[in-house]
Amino acid sequence: MSSNGNENIESVLKETRTFPPPATFSANAHISSEEQYEAMWNRAKDDPSGFWGEMADNLDWFRRWDTVLEGDMPDTKWFQGGKINASYNCIDRHLTSSRRNKAAIIWEGEPGDTRVLRYQDLHREVCKFANVLKNLGVQTGDRVTLYMPMIPELAIAMLACSRIGAVHSIIFGGFSADAVADRNNDARARVVVTADGGWRRGKEVPLKAAVDASLDKSPTVEKVVVVRRTGGNVDMVPDRDFWWHDLMEGVSTECDAVQLDSEHPLFVLYTSGSTGKPKGVMHTTAGYLLGTTMTSRWVFDLKEEDTYWCTADIGWITGHSYICYGPLSNGSTMVMYEGAPNWPDEGRFWEIIEKYRVSIFYTAPTAIRAFIKWGDQWPEKYDLSSLRLLGSVGEPINPEAWMWYHRVIGQERCPIVDTWWQTETGGIMISPLPGVTATKPGSCCRPLPGVVPDIVSPDGQSLGANTGGLLVMRQPWPSMLRTLWGDDERFRATYFSDIEGCYFAGDGARRDEDGYIWVMGRVDDVINVSGHRLSTMEVESCLVAHPGVAEAAVVGFPHEIKGEGICCFVTLKTGDGDDDLKKELVQHVRSSIGALATPDQVRFATALPKTRSGKIMRRLLRDIAAGRESTQDTTTLEDLSILAKLREDDE
Ligand code: PRX
Repeated sequence: MSSNGNENIESVLKETRTFPPPATFSANAHISSEEQYEAMWNRAKDDPSGFWGEMADNLDWFRRWDTVLEGDMPDTKWFQGGKINASYNCIDRHLTSSRRNKAAIIWEGEPGDTRVLRYQDLHREVCKFANVLKNLGVQTGDRVTLYMPMIPELAIAMLACSRIGAVHSIIFGGFSADAVADRNNDARARVVVTADGGWRRGKEVPLKAAVDASLDKSPTVEKVVVVRRTGGNVDMVPDRDFWWHDLMEGVSTECDAVQLDSEHPLFVLYTSGSTGKPKGVMHTTAGYLLGTTMTSRWVFDLKEEDTYWCTADIGWITGHSYICYGPLSNGSTMVMYEGAPNWPDEGRFWEIIEKYRVSIFYTAPTAIRAFIKWGDQWPEKYDLSSLRLLGSVGEPINPEAWMWYHRVIGQERCPIVDTWWQTETGGIMISPLPGVTATKPGSCCRPLPGVVPDIVSPDGQSLGANTGGLLVMRQPWPSMLRTLWGDDERFRATYFSDIEGCYFAGDGARRDEDGYIWVMGRVDDVINVSGHRLSTMEVESCLVAHPGVAEAAVVGFPHEIKGEGICCFVTLKTGDGDDDLKKELVQHVRSSIGALATPDQVRFATALPKTRSGKIMRRLLRDIAAGRESTQDTTTLEDLSILAKLREDDE
């Protein structure tokens, strides 16, 4: 587990400001008072089946469930006996009302092109693509990889998969060919859907070329569907590669949504683990859909007239849950944007908010830190008065960034919801309710109804106020992951073996005297770069794959914009290394894993600090990377002189 698992975690953050919700906001909110919240929370805790059974009436079912909840964590099953379809809930059920002609997706490409899909347009396109998948031989339960830019076809392909019960595995477009191959192989994907490329800062990201390279190493893939987005040159292999627009021609616009079991797998999404290969987090249909539907409504207070914008990429869980499934299941109108926030200039996001009159805006602390750096003059140029609610996700938001968000973007009018959750939790777990909670900058506040967290010592004892410890969940919730694809043993070991009877999130946290939770980051070796969890282990294996490298240890260090930066300590097979080799290694990691893993620092070392049993002492390296004096115990260190040498190399 954690390297500091023997001690509780010390918290240094002290924050006393509070911001109660504006009275007008509370008056109209779905959850509008402390009493209502407490009643819901207590009910869900004491009678989960009763509570979630009632909530499940917010979904459309082909057949009602026999039982709401069966079994104990981690073997919990939700809504057994029920038959349901996520695509149907996100689209078809809105077609019987005036929502039929409501915009579901207002899309803007980076070059400035736009498209609007009303719910009935979405229905038509999803049905057609579902038929295309069937024509390609995709059957219920098959895996389909989606490696696409942020274009409407990505949402269409997801919903087409879920319509026929195919399991989508979406790979963020920033990942490299090798990463795509690994994930294709692990999931045994039969079809890949991609595009010629996507636009990012005015340049084409060549996706199809990466798919081509990945296919040499992923033999399970039989067919590739390619959306024409950029018009760039691509090689099309006969009988394997097909243009989306060719396949869509002439197919039927009707495709019945398959009646699936509640626990039918909805998707696999790969996320970094602290050791070894990425973990294929698997979510199932009914519980995930219910969790994302209800949390979208509670936390974003979604109303019929809102225009909601989540800036995440669909390649991450935030996009799965809060671009696609949650908002669409609620019949909302959302904005979807393809490109970078600073293209053609740093005002792009604010321009989009002004243009579409966005009322709810959900982004990440790493983006907020970049906005701060770019300067207030950018948001000040635009009319942001349509905003009524702001959200944050992905990593702890530091109080100063929170205050800037509140003042400059929210104009001291909009509540901020700092939402804590994970790929594994499927949906938001701990968050302010915008009409209820008096927020404190930097705290994700209190658990949502149905979420029973605790903060415990490594031996599982609940800790009192203001003591840092391990964040766990004591009760199951509908949208929790069900397993890791193909590796149930790892699923049990990773989340359920540290603290008896609990789900361990891997984060450290403390609870203050008001019961507010302050998350303190990961306690293991995953680093959070720009809100993306990266495994240090993956970067290390990649470095070691370079012919000149003997050994590598990768740690995070505090980074002004990215939250955490990547520092690589490298020992070479021969020689001392020079700047050219540093550049080469940076490039090597970049091309093997993707741009998001680009190292910020490479340091050559003659040896790495290790324990006598041969384990690299990352805590020491973290201190060195951050330029701090180490207060760590070095008694287990094998060769003390190594430390002095590493410090001498300090840049
Ligand atoms: O460490 C926590 C951090 O991000 C981790 C989950 O990462 P991922 O599965 O990639 O999902 C990100 C989007 C949900 C958590 O274990 N994290 C996420 N949100 C917050 C956060 N840390 C503090 N505050 C948050 N609001």
